[in-house]
Amino acid sequence: MKTILSLFSVVLVLVLIALGSGAYNMAATEKHWAVTEKVIEWVRESSIEARARNLEVPSLDDEERLLKGAVHYDAMCPICHLAPGLEPTELSVGLYPQPPIFHQRQPVVDSAAKQDRARKYFWVIKNGLKMTAMPAWGLSHDDDSIWAMAAFILKMSQMTPEQYQALIHSTEDHTHTHAHGHAHGEH
Ligand code: HEC
Repeated sequence: MKTILSLFSVVLVLVLIALGSGAYNMAATEKHWAVTEKVIEWVRESSIEARARNLEVPSLDDEERLLKGAVHYDAMCPICHLAPGLEPTELSVGLYPQPPIFHQRQPVVDSAAKQDRARKYFWVIKNGLKMTAMPAWGLSHDDDSIWAMAAFILKMSQMTPEQYQALIHSTEDHTHTHAHGHAHGEH
């Protein structure tokens, strides 16, 4: 037992010396090992699942809510998550982990699975994700706006550029209710 413990301490000290010498490469271009990625994914999914489980989901098909979500999404999210018809941006290509592309996801049809997905989206949008560049929008947005974005990104699955554009333009009359002028120079 004693030998195991002292061996363990020696290894620990060597690991600390290696890390302190700068051996670990923090570069975003240096991918994790596949097994590390699996572990991170498992920890992330379990963490979100445990925190999102009891959230109450509002109607995901409410027209007003979807339009509100579309306006918010278009103003703040495509720079990382892209949008139908938008090429990867200079910012999005450099991110690691890579942000998911919602309009390329398969639609969720099962209604219980949809609710689960919406809860998870809501929690991540509100709280952000450590060490990923995904911001916590709950510091600047109320829950209603965050549910609107969660509902909208669920609807984005397989959306065409035409459908996306039509939605965003149909909301242009509504944009005065929206606090983010930066995506539309005229506001
Ligand atoms: C600066 C870049 C950036 C911006 C801006 C950004 N995100 Fe993210 N987002 C990310 C990254 C990176 C991830 C992936 C994190 C990971 O893999 O753990 C992510 C993950 C997510 C997830 C979790 C998806 C899943 O299925 O696991 C949701 C939901 C999300 N973002 C929604 C949004 C919304 C809505 C907006 C706009 C309000 C937004 N994001 C803006 C970078 C960004």
